[in-house]
This record gives sequence, structure tokens and C-alpha cells, in this order.
Amino acid sequence: MDSLPINQEVVLQVREELGIKTLAQASIRQIVQLADRLQKMYQVDFIRTEMGVPGLAAPQIGTDAEITALRSGVASVYPPIQGIEPLKQELSRFARLFLDIDVAPTGCIPTVGAMQSSMLVFLVANRRDKNKDTTLFIDPGFPVQKRQLGVLGMKYESFDIYDYRGDKLRAKLESYLEKGHISTFLYSTPNNPAWISFTEKELSIIGELANKYDVVVLEDLAYFGMDFRQDYGQPGRAPYPATVARYTDNYVLLFSSSKVFSYAGQRIGAMLISDGLYNRQFADLNRNFSIDKFGPAILQDAIYTSSAGTAHSSQAALAAILKAVNEGAYDFVAPLKEYGQRAAS
Ligand SMILES: Cc1ncc(COP(=O)(O)O)c(C=O)c1O
Repeated sequence: MDSLPINQEVVLQVREELGIKTLAQASIRQIVQLADRLQKMYQVDFIRTEMGVPGLAAPQIGTDAEITALRSGVASVYPPIQGIEPLKQELSRFARLFLDIDVAPTGCIPTVGAMQSSMLVFLVANRRDKNKDTTLFIDPGFPVQKRQLGVLGMKYESFDIYDYRGDKLRAKLESYLEKGHISTFLYSTPNNPAWISFTEKELSIIGELANKYDVVVLEDLAYFGMDFRQDYGQPGRAPYPATVARYTDNYVLLFSSSKVFSYAGQRIGAMLISDGLYNRQFADLNRNFSIDKFGPAILQDAIYTSSAGTAHSSQAALAAILKAVNEGAYDFVAPLKEYGQRAAS
């Protein structure tokens, strides 16, 4: 098409209208608006991955379960803060069958997406020790999580894993940890857009240092199963992806249905808090929370005051999808190959 490549003047003009000073610092929503406008102007479809979803259909198991739940009348009833029991059970089963780890259903807490999970964990984990106030991001990651800390008025530091693979990671992490101010680590594995999967070695280093310096690790599983070099989609069968959960009890896994099950629209995810961390007491939590135990502080204060739980019907959907996945009746990895093709194109 003659109009491509798009004239820079046109892009600059649309950016100005949308208030985008630099592309590097634009939010994902601004990039969406920019791409929408240019698509319309030039009548051309771009390959779009800025919202992280390549447009796959939601599994019908989920939408059917959601419709059934709504018809049964759940819309008028507040969902339990801790999540509906069938979903908690299936999340715990998923952890055992697809990660080969044990997390009790009590610590498997549905949220309004992994986005809410990280926000809530920051609220509690970064306030559990008055001497530790900073999150360390091991990039590349999800930029909005840094914005969350900005909005909360909390501090963060970051570095890119690319230059610190394998054993090199230890010294790099210790250079931050020695100062004593790191409260939480956050990384995504696999991550987008680099699609790096952290290795067993790297996660063992992270876990060991989390124990030594008492850091809470947030492991973001938004792209779970998307390392297509292996098939991680067979319940109860190796191979299992590497996870920090094998090396420390100081972890919270951030689970998202948005990419893994193409269910972004219903804003349903979860956090999986280790059994050990769930029940740990931190005296400093008393400064902001009505209880000094990690898990109950997340539930009774963080979730209650932010969303008072997660929509009933979308919990029913995720429970149904996970049940099918856990029973081997729905292969969630097969449709995800689209992500691999997008990344390669
Ligand atoms: C790495 C990562 N973490 C978390 C999220 C947020 O997930 P959710 O839609 O479940 O809130 C995204 C969404 O793009 C993501 O890419």
C-alpha cells in the first residue's frame, strides 16, 4: 500500500491529539488508541499484541458456566471474600497437577485479574517490615506493576535479567539485598516480549536469597505454558515448569486467566499464597491492617476494602475451565501456540 510506511508527521499529529509525549512512556491504553486511529486512517490491520491478547476466543466451557451461574441467581449475592470453594479447590489442584507443588485451597484466592493480585500483595508484603520498603523487578515485566507502586507511593528498583543469566544472578541480586531495603521480588516467567523462561538454577538462587533476606517473591504466571519448547499442558505429568515454589516458602504466584484461557474480559485471576507464608505473623502489619497474619490481612483488609471479592459468575467460569483442564478434558496449551507465532513474526 502506498501510504505505508506511515508518515512520521501523521504519527506525531495523532500522538499530540492523544497526549502521548514519548512512545517509550506511553501507557498500553494510549498505544491502543494510537494503533486504532492509524488503522482507521489507513484502512489496514496491524498485528496487535499491545494488550497482550491476540484475539483468541474464550473457551465455551467458561461462558456456559458463567451463564448457568447467572441464571441460578448469583448476581444478587455477594461472593465470599475468600472465593467460592469449587474454584479454590481447582486452583489448588492446578498447582499440584501442572506445577507439581502443594498449595492448600485456603491460600488460593480469586482476584479481579492478576493485576489486582499484584496490587494486593504489594499492599501487604511491602508493609510487613518497616525496614523493607522496596520492590525489586527482574525485567522484562509488565510495566503497569511499576505504575501500581507509583500509585501506592511505594518504591521500586529494577534490572534486566538478560545480562545476569544463571550464576551471575546471585551477585546481582545480593548487590541490592545487602542494603536491607528489598521487601519483594517480582518477575514474570515466561515473560513478554523477550519470552525468557527463568531456569531451575535461577529460580533456586532467587528462592535461596528470598529465604536468606526474608523477601516475598511474586512469581507472575500470566504466560503460563507458553514456553513451547516443552508441552506443559498434561495434567500430573512431567515436564513441569520451573518455579520458585520449590525453593522457598516466601512466595505468592500470580495467576491470570486472561492469556492462558483467553478470558481477559471477565477480569478473573487468582493469587496462590504458599501455606507457610499464609499463616506467618508480621508485627509491623498492625500499623495498617486489622490483623498481623499475611493471608488474613490480604483477605480481611486488602481485598475487602478494594473490591470486596471477585464477581461470582466469573469465578464459576474459571472453576469450570480449570476442572476441565485438571481432568485432561481441555488442552489449554494447543490454542496458545498463536502467541508463539505472533512472537516469531
Ligand atoms: C506479565 C503480566 N502480568 C499480569 C497481567 C495482568 O493480568 P490480568 O489480566 O489477569 O489482570 C498481564 C496482562 O497483560 C501481564 O502481561
